[in-house]
Amino acid sequence: MPSPAHKTSDTYRGELPSLTRRLDRYFERVKDDHPLKGTVPGPNAIELWSNDYLSLSDHPVITKAQADVLASGKNSVFMSAAYLGDGTPQRAIERQAAAFLGTEAVVLTQSGWCANFGLIQSISNEQTPVYIDIFAHASLWEGARSVGAPIHPFRHNDAGSLEGSLKKSGPGIVIVDAIYSSNGTICSLANILGVSEKFGCEVVVDESHSIGICGRNGQGMVSLLGLTDKVKYRTFSLSKAFVTRAGMVAGPARTMDYFRYESRPAIFSSAVLPHEIAGLAATVEVIQDESWRRERLRKNTDYLRAHLNHLGYPVDTEGSQVIALEAGPEKRTVILRKALERRGVFGAVFCAPATPKNRSIVRLSVHCDLTEYQLDRIIEVCEEMRGEVEVENWPASLRYKSEPERPVRRAGIGTA
Ligand SMILES: Cc1ncc(COP(=O)(O)O)c(C=O)c1O
Repeated sequence: MPSPAHKTSDTYRGELPSLTRRLDRYFERVKDDHPLKGTVPGPNAIELWSNDYLSLSDHPVITKAQADVLASGKNSVFMSAAYLGDGTPQRAIERQAAAFLGTEAVVLTQSGWCANFGLIQSISNEQTPVYIDIFAHASLWEGARSVGAPIHPFRHNDAGSLEGSLKKSGPGIVIVDAIYSSNGTICSLANILGVSEKFGCEVVVDESHSIGICGRNGQGMVSLLGLTDKVKYRTFSLSKAFVTRAGMVAGPARTMDYFRYESRPAIFSSAVLPHEIAGLAATVEVIQDESWRRERLRKNTDYLRAHLNHLGYPVDTEGSQVIALEAGPEKRTVILRKALERRGVFGAVFCAPATPKNRSIVRLSVHCDLTEYQLDRIIEVCEEMRGEVEVENWPASLRYKSEPERPVRRAGIGTA
């Protein structure tokens, strides 16, 4: 039986015509098989869709810190963080995070989305050209759109494309991700910064997928590369390696003060709760103390990448912990997702609007707790399904083969 969603639009009385058209387009696209709607993993499934790269979500020190605050009954902070002053856990974690990151000031936000959206909204307006990598996270784009800033997208990870745009439109704000969330590319940060500096731009780097992962103590890529003086703003989702539902912005104290009291998400949405902050404070310590997790993550990543590359998947042998299997059109991506799931491997589908229309991906997020058996099983599955998913016909495979030389992009990950 067709699902109710597939009734013709005139059966939906009372719906605004503009909404009906929109919903019709949506259901025409996804039919009964939305690319994101997969099966439920069984008990022995290998899950590669969480961003808990360092496998910290059940770390006893972190969970105890959270549980202690919950049990203490001191968890009642149901208001905007703008009201929270110096003696509060919010301010204490911000000072701890600023010391960890080696920056003047940090503001804790409710999510990475709020950090990005609120920051770009706070530092740009209709007169500020915003130069943004086409694959930068949606929250950064939305921040620029919300203030009507002129947006100049540049080609992915391409400092030359950025320079061309800067020559035409002059200095502004340059926005990149340190590790891109959908395809896992490591940013060519030195090149981007070189061009940005030449044109007098301010730079924002989203470190959501590099915090905890890059650098000896996990302070992120900007710190690993010794570029803290050149990057004015860093933003973070803490719901990846930091296993907390929160975000942060790091930058000059003056702008951070303005951001705290003026950015819309900071004022109009309530604060992160004390038990989450306690978990976060513990996580900052664990991330620094347990560098073996970063080393294991790198080993696992290298192992998987090398084998996938050998099997003919368009995957670099060296790169970040985010491994993108880019099947291309959504139909092919659904075939890939199903082939993986049938064999007990679960990745995350990324399709439009998270990727360009015909460049959808099944993203495999490596984590440090994967066992040798699990790694070999993933490789076995990928070998077994090669014909079924027609890997050699993926547009990305054809592109990959035609590139004479691939740049080494490992520099950002691990303890180096
Ligand atoms: C690069 C990047 N920035 C920001 C965000 C938003 O983070 P959050 O989920 O904490 O809102 C995400 C998560 O999807 C992300 O991948």
